Amino acid sequence: MAGMLRTLLKSSAARHCGGRPVRAFPALRRFVSTADISSAKYSASCFPSTVGLRDLDTFPRRHLGPRPEDVSEMLKVVEAPDIETFVSNALPPKVLVKRALNIDPPQGLSESAMLRKLKEIASKNKVLRSYIGKGYYGTHMPAVIQRNIMENPAWYTSYTPYQAEVSQGRLEALLTFQTVIVDLTGLPVANASLLDEGTAAAEAMIMSFHHTRGKKRTFIVDKNTHEQTIAVIKSRANTLGLNLVVADLLSPEGISTLKASAKDLCGALVSYPGDNGEIPRITALQQIADTVHDSKGLFAVDADLLSLTLMHPPSTFGADIALGSAQRFGVPMGFGGPHAAFFAVREELKRKMPGRLVGISTDRLGKPALRLALQTREQHIRREKATSNICTAQALLANVAAAYAVYHGPEGLRDIARRVHGLAALLARAVEKNSSHKLLGDGIYFDTLRIQLSGESADQLMNRAVNTYGINLFKVNDSTVQLSLDETVTEKDLADLAELFTGNREIPDGVTDFPEFPPEWQRKDSILTNSVFHEHHSETAMLRFLYSLQQKDIALTTSMISLGSCTMKLNGTVEMLPITWPEFADLHPFVPRDQAQGYLQLIDELEHDLQQITGFAKTTLMPNSGAQGEYTGLSVIRQYHHHRGEPQRNVVLIPVSAHGTNPASAAMAGFKVVPVKCLENGSLDMADMEKQAKKNKDNLAAFMITYPTTYGLFEPGIRDAIDLTHKYGGQVYMDGANMNAQVGLTSPADLGADVCHLNLHKTFCIPHGGGGPGVGPICVAEHLKGFLPKHPLAETSNHDTTNAIDPVSSGPFGSASVLPISYAYIKLMGGENIPFSSVTAILNANYMLYRLKDAYKIQFIGSDDFKYCGHEFILDLRPFKKYHIEAIDVAKRLQDYGFHAPTMAFPIPDTLMVEPTESENLDELNRFVDSLLSIREEIRAVEEGKSEGLVLKNSPHPIEDLLQDDTVWSKRGYTREQAAYPLPYLKNFKTWPTVSRVDDVYGDTHLLCTCPPVSAYAE
Ligand SMILES: Cc1ncc(COP(=O)(O)O)c(C=O)c1O
Repeated sequence: MAGMLRTLLKSSAARHCGGRPVRAFPALRRFVSTADISSAKYSASCFPSTVGLRDLDTFPRRHLGPRPEDVSEMLKVVEAPDIETFVSNALPPKVLVKRALNIDPPQGLSESAMLRKLKEIASKNKVLRSYIGKGYYGTHMPAVIQRNIMENPAWYTSYTPYQAEVSQGRLEALLTFQTVIVDLTGLPVANASLLDEGTAAAEAMIMSFHHTRGKKRTFIVDKNTHEQTIAVIKSRANTLGLNLVVADLLSPEGISTLKASAKDLCGALVSYPGDNGEIPRITALQQIADTVHDSKGLFAVDADLLSLTLMHPPSTFGADIALGSAQRFGVPMGFGGPHAAFFAVREELKRKMPGRLVGISTDRLGKPALRLALQTREQHIRREKATSNICTAQALLANVAAAYAVYHGPEGLRDIARRVHGLAALLARAVEKNSSHKLLGDGIYFDTLRIQLSGESADQLMNRAVNTYGINLFKVNDSTVQLSLDETVTEKDLADLAELFTGNREIPDGVTDFPEFPPEWQRKDSILTNSVFHEHHSETAMLRFLYSLQQKDIALTTSMISLGSCTMKLNGTVEMLPITWPEFADLHPFVPRDQAQGYLQLIDELEHDLQQITGFAKTTLMPNSGAQGEYTGLSVIRQYHHHRGEPQRNVVLIPVSAHGTNPASAAMAGFKVVPVKCLENGSLDMADMEKQAKKNKDNLAAFMITYPTTYGLFEPGIRDAIDLTHKYGGQVYMDGANMNAQVGLTSPADLGADVCHLNLHKTFCIPHGGGGPGVGPICVAEHLKGFLPKHPLAETSNHDTTNAIDPVSSGPFGSASVLPISYAYIKLMGGENIPFSSVTAILNANYMLYRLKDAYKIQFIGSDDFKYCGHEFILDLRPFKKYHIEAIDVAKRLQDYGFHAPTMAFPIPDTLMVEPTESENLDELNRFVDSLLSIREEIRAVEEGKSEGLVLKNSPHPIEDLLQDDTVWSKRGYTREQAAYPLPYLKNFKTWPTVSRVDDVYGDTHLLCTCPPVSAYAE
């Protein structure tokens, strides 16, 4: 296999011509056929009337909203005779390629065949007992949580809670997560999750660096920290030019190293417990904290959440930052992710905190209401000056972890922790009493034992462990192994372990004397005192609690969510089913390769299909969000320039219209951002592009552009901009988050780009989960593949990694357990049908645009350059400003119509960006358009000075508002009926906002980010 791959690599290696790579791919185009995107194909292939002997349960007709007859109607509205003509007018001629995709099977698998195929793949994964630890542990996801959150579209299909009034349920769950973290770490402010433990640790380093205003560049990490965490920190340190030192901070030499670095020290990080399982002494940790503080640096502690239910919290020994993974709070290992990382800080640091933060504010009626707080520090506003590039995080998994804490409560969690420690201690006793192996360390551990073997090598013991008992351990060196116990360990498992190490299944004193956690290490305070952690311990209570939260929110279960730039398409149930199968859910990321053959096959095939779609040569699935993909792609470009002896190339050109994560990621990857102007009509200002490229020719590293652009336009000058970049020695990074408009019609490689990321959680059906998980793979051209990231504990690719960049995530394949979703989507659609996802997404958007264009100004569309938009368009509400009507009024009023607002204020202030996706049917598109047209009449009432228009400013109207007495309503100038049921369909079904308009300013000036006592709500 390796030999075959090497031959392949050689034959397709990039050829360099005059210093610039010549890609093999475009030459191939001559030999491949053209995709059929005709109306006839849409009917016959996606909506077949007969399928002969084939399965009836075909998928494209379930994924695509409009039926062929609807399409005919919609084409009339957009003034096009057929699909093909429409697409030819929507995409510029130099852009429309229609390269046929070599994706198997061309017609797609039926739903039942897909499940059979995935079962077959899953069965190639061997689920053994994994005690490998290193940040990943077995855990029981309570069935009530699995069924009602993890597998429940009301939770997993929602977006980041931008529209607070219809998101109070998941905001409350995220606030609960923050409360868990605050209680267990002892620090006063925690965010609503980060991507994983490694990146959270890297964020701690970056926060420390910013804390010194960039003046101090040395960060020291204790060597007893997980390898993958150190490697991710190293990757970020390299790109930012920071000096990373790994030292034994718990030794006197470590303290000397800290002192010696004082002048340049921005911070230090210690793991608690350490990678080898040892728990440092509080006095030693306090000494490190004091030393770091003496040099004005920040002290970060990478902690284990479960052990914190028993151990002193990091706040007791001077931590400024506490971080770690919440995985073992009910989230399966999933071959490495997705899992929620946590991040808590001292009060003074809250404004520098990366990621999303939920806070409590009040609504228009003075009622407590939750919302996202301190958003002005995020990349959407601060761009390259943002505290971090985090946009998508791990909301769904944070909600699972919060629910796990709610369900078990403080005593339940402590019982789990005591049991885990007790099991480890029993095993330790058995090893000490009944074997000649030696337990390493000073005997103070939580769940992890390091054992030096006698009479048997690590390999011999590990072979016996796998073959006789089905057990995986971690090999430290030839004579030492390590293992971590967890919640799932049974009596039999313990006996197996005892027998493995001692030859005897007996557990000394096992029943009579369950060992206790050492008292001097035990925290004495009460944890999780809020009532939410005490009220939902029966399954009935928990079920109702979760249901009550879900009822408050708009998700795809209630109506379309037309958030521009977010692609809220169908997350097909058949795609979702496999992710909780044990064969995918219960694999540790560092198991031997032969146990992960199913995953490796799936990853291989998915990478192949993504390469077909993007036209590129190689993929990494490691980045776990779009923004992480951006960081990875730019780091690869950076490495490429360094490798070619051009390290001075440090400028990235980014159009002013770009998504906020673009400049934030470029800054994080160590680049200087130079903006490129856009013209009045929304397209790139090519003259400015040329000027900037020329001006920076010696330092030009890359040009970074989203396609279709963030204005929803198929930029006609894209190929010229790409050629220009190459002419001046730069690489082209295409932000492929908008790939939903490109599949099968054009591609980054066809257009000449060098690297792109994809948001699998947009284009490829991974649900948004209320703000994560995400998967942001990057695909690269041949000449860049050697620079894709490696991993210290696992093989990530089958090519030479000598020049590879350090890892960008803790898991070798990022959020591996959700990859079956994208895999299934592509295979269900098939190579011939999947282009219709893009075609229909573009048609749906233009249908809405054409129905709305006489009522609203549509930004950029209507000129000779742009007859049509791409897959999204911008409603310009600025003309109504003179009547004091703003985008926020329309956004909030849409909630009264049962809809989530489109994207507000991005990419242009006071506009709404609408993206319907291909999965919405004509009825739903019409309902949304009719709502906007009805709102237009309400705006007209304002223009004409009629009182009915006041309904906009008072929106949304929760039931509590409607029930106010007549003295209130007589002054309103509009009726309750108009407020609540402005269109007839609402009387049949409506999702109600549960609070009235939330006061953003109050929330930020009175920041409160943990669950308040229930009395506060009652007041
Ligand atoms: C164009 C574009 N680029 C980048 C991103 C960032 O992706 P993520 O939120 O996964 O970090 C987004 C997110 O929606 C996007 O729309």
